[in-house]
Parts: sequence; C-alpha cells; structure tokens
Amino acid sequence: MTAVREHWGSRMGFIMASAGSAVGLGNVWKFPYMAGSNGGGAFLIIYLGCVLFFGLSLVMAELAIGRTTQLNPVGAFRKLAGRSWSVVGGLGVATAFIILSFYVVVAGWTLAYVVFMAADTFGGLNVDQNTTIFTQFVSSPVQPLVYAAVFTVAMIGVVLGGVASGIERASKWLMPLLFVLLVVLAIRSVTLPGAGAGIAFYLMPDWSQVTAGTWGGAVSQAFFSLSLGMGAMLTYGSYMSNEQNLPRDASMVVGLDTLVALLAGLVILPAVFSAGLEPGAGAGLTFMTLPAVFAEMPAGTIFGIAFFVLLAIAALTSAVSLLEVVVSYFVDEKGFSRTIAASGAGLVIFMIGIPVSLSQGVWSDVTIAGKSFLDFADFMTSSVMMPIGGLFIALFVGWFMGPRAVEALKSHPEQSMPLAGLWLFILRFVAPLGIAWILIQGFFG
Ligand code: PHE
Repeated sequence: MTAVREHWGSRMGFIMASAGSAVGLGNVWKFPYMAGSNGGGAFLIIYLGCVLFFGLSLVMAELAIGRTTQLNPVGAFRKLAGRSWSVVGGLGVATAFIILSFYVVVAGWTLAYVVFMAADTFGGLNVDQNTTIFTQFVSSPVQPLVYAAVFTVAMIGVVLGGVASGIERASKWLMPLLFVLLVVLAIRSVTLPGAGAGIAFYLMPDWSQVTAGTWGGAVSQAFFSLSLGMGAMLTYGSYMSNEQNLPRDASMVVGLDTLVALLAGLVILPAVFSAGLEPGAGAGLTFMTLPAVFAEMPAGTIFGIAFFVLLAIAALTSAVSLLEVVVSYFVDEKGFSRTIAASGAGLVIFMIGIPVSLSQGVWSDVTIAGKSFLDFADFMTSSVMMPIGGLFIALFVGWFMGPRAVEALKSHPEQSMPLAGLWLFILRFVAPLGIAWILIQGFFG
C-alpha cells in the first residue's frame, strides 16, 4: 500500500485534464438546449450565479478532499470520517455509472455526425430535413449503438493508458483547438441573417420566463457541467501534488468550463433563431442546428468534421474522468487490476446504454415517471444524485473538516487564504440551503 500515487505531469496538465473533465457534452450539447428550454437570458444569469456562488466553492472542496487523502471517493471519506460518510463516495461511484450509460450514447451521436459530415449528408438540405435525419438516426435500433460501442472502447483505452500519459496528453492540445473552433463558429452564427432575435433571447433576460424549473435546471446544469457532486473532481484532486495552488487552479478550470458553455450558447441559439427552429426543441437542438451553420460557411464540411471530432474528444476526456471514478474505486478498494476494472465497468455501462439508446426509438413508449430512459438517467443524476452528493460534500467540508479544510487548500502552511472565511460560509450555509431548497422544489414544487 506504499506505492507512490501517480501525479499529474505538470500544473498545466492538471488544469487541462480537469477542464477536460468539465468541458464536454454538458457544455456543447446540454447547455444550449437547457438555456433554450428555460427562457434563455434569465437562465444564463441564474446559471452564472450558481457557478459563482457554489460551483467554484464545491470544486475547491472536492479537490481539497482528494488532495489531502490521495484516495478514491469512497476511501477518502472513510479515511477522513469513517464508514458512514463513505456512503457519499459510494453514491458518486453509482452516479458515474448512470451518467456514463447515457453519456456514451450521446457521444456516439457526435461520432456519427463526423461520418455524416464527411459523407456530405446535409448538403443542400434545410433545417427541417436536418431534423428528420437526426430523428431517424437516433431512433434506429442498431446504428447509434455501434457508435456508442466505438466510443466505449476508446474510453476504456484511454483509462488503461494511465492518468498522466493517457488523459493528460489527450487534453493538452485538443481542448484549446476546440475553443478556437467555437470562437470561429460563434462569429459565423451571430452574423447569420435573423440571428439578432437569438442573441436577444440569449443575452437579454426576460424574468417573466423564470419558474422553479428554471432554478432547478440551472443548478443541475451547474453540477453536470462542472463534474460536481460525484467524486470526479475529488478523484482528479487525488492526483494533484501539494505544490499546486489549488484555489487558483480551481478557478481556472471553472472559468474555462463556463466560457465554453457561454460560447456554445452563442453558437447554437442565434443559429436556432436564424433557421426558424424552436429553442425549446430539447436534446436534439445542437445536432439539428449545427449542420445549418456549417452549410453557411466556406469550407463548411471541413469545419463540420473538425468540430464533431473535437466534440467527440471533449466527450472522451469527460467520460474518462467518470470512468476513472469507478476504476479508482475498484482498484483501491477492491484490489482489482486496472484492466479488469476498466473493461468490466465499460461493459456494464454499455449494457445499460442499450435501453437508453433504444428509448429514442423503438422503446420510446417505455417511460419512468413520464420520462424516457435517457431523460430519466439524466434527471436522476444531474437533478437528484449530484445535488445530493454536493449537499453532503458541502456539509462535510464546511462543518466536519472546517478549519482543517482551509489547511488542505494550502500548498504550504504559510500560504495566505484571504477568502477562506467566505469559502467556509458558502459551504456551511449558502450551498446546503440553496441546494436543499432546489431539491425540495423539484420534488414538491
Ligand atoms: N462535466 C461533463 C460535461 O459537461 C460531464 C461530467 C459529469 C463529467 C460528471 C464528469 C463527471 O460534459
């Protein structure tokens, strides 16, 4: 048990890998349609509030637990507080499984879109026809699962490559490239004819649109996008060394994630209005809209291929962080080899992914609580399990660890932490009360 834990190769490597975990389908696929279905600008402001008021504090809390214990989520809670708290870590491992079961399916869609773009499937088609292609594809029984399988195998491959070599190397170069591409696309999108209405919808809050659902949606989106409440950040923190300035690096990660989500909204929503689509169209919004943006660009096919390749890689770096939660648990706690843990978990995840994928087509009539399997898996994790996990992590770090947690933020005992009091206040009061209020609204509202 004295093996030295593998650490990130460099500070930049950690930031890129953690940003790689945070930046993924949540930013580019989910954020635009969540903003679209929840009133646009008002959602945006509430979302930013959530990130600022408890997102950042919780990211720091998870990283601090990971770094002081150098353990997986279950082991970390057990080491700090004994058996009963390790349930929070266990909840995280379960959450990772469920998220991955739909994550691999949607990531498969992005792989399929690489192929569609390359084959010029959308050439000369209008948005209605693009929508039909999307619907036909996701509802077919076999094709999407083939793509999900390819993605799952890639994910297992990266996790088996180990932390520093596999995850870090993939993230360091490709994330900046995705960012540049999003900037280019945003410029194209906001200059499309009729885009102005979309810009106004996205940036000018209409508070009359705000409901309890807007708040709940913003909170769950913040958890999902920041990879919070289920131990992913904790696990990545466990590979962090003491020299790293934790608050500063955490702020970088949160800032990058937020920037990418904002940009993605600026790509999708103006294009939605320009094409006359419904912003509340739901989970297909990004896939229905983007081909129309590429069609209006010189060398659009090349841009399209590059974009979906990079999105698939962004999804891969997020999926890898989810699988890493599961793998580090089975390796540290159950003594499995990395190979067995990663392949076994990957297989189970793909099996759960089968009904999730079929729920978009042949099994669309089968619902749980009025939701398709995909929506239900998304709802259970982002709106229930992650907020509950986050609530306990906030209470744990704020009350149980308290001043000890502030020490864990420091790289050396003399480092000054001017905002430590505010951080603890947020973890003790603001985050738990805010999250509890949203959860109660969700159940009884
Ligand atoms: N944050 C990732 C995204 O936005 C999803 C994710 C959630 C990753 C939880 C890790 C843990 O796509």
